Amino acid sequence: MNLAIAILAGDGIGPEISKVGVNVLNTVAKRFGHEFVYTEAICGASAIDAVGNPFPPQTLAVCQNADAVFFSAVGHPKFDNDPTAKVRPEQGLLAMRKQLGLFANVRPIECFDKLLDKSPIKAEILKGSDFICIRELTGGMYFGEKYQDDNTAYDTNYYTRPEIERILKVGFEYAMQRKKHLTVVDKANVLASSRLWRQIAQEMEPMYPEVTVDYMYVDNAAMRLILSPTFFDVIVTENTFGDILTDEASVISGSMGLLPSASVGTGTPVFEPIHGSWPEAAGKNIANPLAQILSGAMLLEHFGLKEEGATVRKAVQASMDAGIVTADLAGDAQAYSTTQVGEWIASYIANQ
Ligand code: IPM
Ligand code: MN
Repeated sequence: MNLAIAILAGDGIGPEISKVGVNVLNTVAKRFGHEFVYTEAICGASAIDAVGNPFPPQTLAVCQNADAVFFSAVGHPKFDNDPTAKVRPEQGLLAMRKQLGLFANVRPIECFDKLLDKSPIKAEILKGSDFICIRELTGGMYFGEKYQDDNTAYDTNYYTRPEIERILKVGFEYAMQRKKHLTVVDKANVLASSRLWRQIAQEMEPMYPEVTVDYMYVDNAAMRLILSPTFFDVIVTENTFGDILTDEASVISGSMGLLPSASVGTGTPVFEPIHGSWPEAAGKNIANPLAQILSGAMLLEHFGLKEEGATVRKAVQASMDAGIVTADLAGDAQAYSTTQVGEWIASYIANQ
């Protein structure tokens, strides 16, 4: 298969993990006889520094001309504590999502047995957890009307029926592929937007008679994720709730450095780790590259390259089994660098 892939490495640890991820994709291409062609483009803080725009038109064009975007991370501390900053790196990420029409963010939460003791949750509660969070990505408070002056500020949690229907459809369809259990997370006891979500989900239920649907308030869901993560199969929720719940869910798996995601919709799909740019670690060759590598597996699987995706997953599992892991996972054992982990995984794949 020929694939044109846009590489948006971004900021902080982004360039280091991106390099490792691309090397893994190249190894897969060589091993399975594919041709992947890469085009790099700037985004985030580095793009603000270079051209004053965190998602410049040239970068949009590179993404639009590609089959997939392999994204790493954006963000820089110099913007975080400055509420007056006019442009922010994160706006680049939001612009990319909106301009590429990526309304569905798919975040699988998988717990690796090897890492059960790394989780803050007791192993017996966690064991066997395997669920997927479908987060709406181009609506809600992130994009609704905003206002701010010195005394008043608001963000509008605006959703329309077509926006809700299309993301719920993704949720129902994932449930059909999995254990047929969909949890719609909302705050329908308080929010009008949530009541419309719930109404539409109830209207859609008869179209998927095999799917068991339950409705859960977001505050309760936040608790259930900790108390009984094995309860969940597919969660579908709006943008802000999904942002918060997936960060929570990521730590129960033992390390945020492990979780990949796919953002899909009408334009070029984006594959990216869910962790951020970890500026303090930039250039130190210590960041965990596994989320980036697993985002590569999601990219391959998106294009139907199942065996290739499975091979990457197997290599990641093998690296953990062999203890070839970065400091966040090593505990008292020896820690390996970002590049060492990446090279170990690439050579495992090459020799499969
Ligand atoms: C995420 C991130 C982004 C979000 C930030 C960086 C804008 O936290 O992808 O979850 O809030 O969507
Ligand atoms: Mn987030």
